[in-house]
Amino acid sequence: MEKSLIVAVAGGNAIGRKNQLLWHISEDLKYFKEVTSGSPVIMGFMTFQSIGRPLPGRTNIVISIFPWPDAPKGIVIVESLEEAYKAAEATGAERCFVIGGAYTYAEAMEKSDTLYITHIYADAPDADVFFPEISPAVWQPVWESPLQHDTENNLDFRFVRYARK
Ligand SMILES: NC(=O)c1ccc[n+]([C@@H]2O[C@H](COP(=O)([O-])OP(=O)(O)OC[C@H]3O[C@@H](n4cnc5c(N)ncnc54)[C@H](OP(=O)(O)O)[C@@H]3O)[C@@H](O)[C@H]2O)c1
Repeated sequence: MEKSLIVAVAGGNAIGRKNQLLWHISEDLKYFKEVTSGSPVIMGFMTFQSIGRPLPGRTNIVISIFPWPDAPKGIVIVESLEEAYKAAEATGAERCFVIGGAYTYAEAMEKSDTLYITHIYADAPDADVFFPEISPAVWQPVWESPLQHDTENNLDFRFVRYARK
């Protein structure tokens, strides 16, 4: 199974603030849905809380080591990233996506084959969670979209897919 990771990264590798995304960029959310639909998605407990519901059309795998008696229906709860990958593999899907957050990305980075990065060309000085460095010694861009502009937030962004060298 191909192990992928998908994230929107702003200047300084910022990815979130107060357990929320930095901006809601509608084209990026649409891209996220297109790319991940039909594949299992793996997330940390905080990201699940932030989204607030299982994402439809995907097996939702949530990592948490604490007992969760009132867990919502429609999610698979596991205790580690390794277990999450096993649960994803058991679905028979060709690829799975780690969808955040910072804690989970940091662990998944070295295990991933492909990174789907939305580069947002804007700074977020009040960010409180960050993505690891995408080292050019390890990761090679294999596809990139033209530069796009989001009028609502007045910022530029681009989708880039990286493969491990
Ligand atoms: N820009 C983007 O594309 C993007 C995407 C997703 C999220 N985000 C942002 O990222 C932020 C959330 O990130 P975060 O780092 O705070 O949280 P997170 O990675 O979503 O969740 C961390 C929690 O997940 C559980 N967990 C994850 N891996 C584990 C492991 N290997 N073993 C045991 N437990 C594990 C632990 O929960 P327990 O303590 O319950 O065990 C841990 O406290 C939010 O601001 C969110 O909006 C941004």
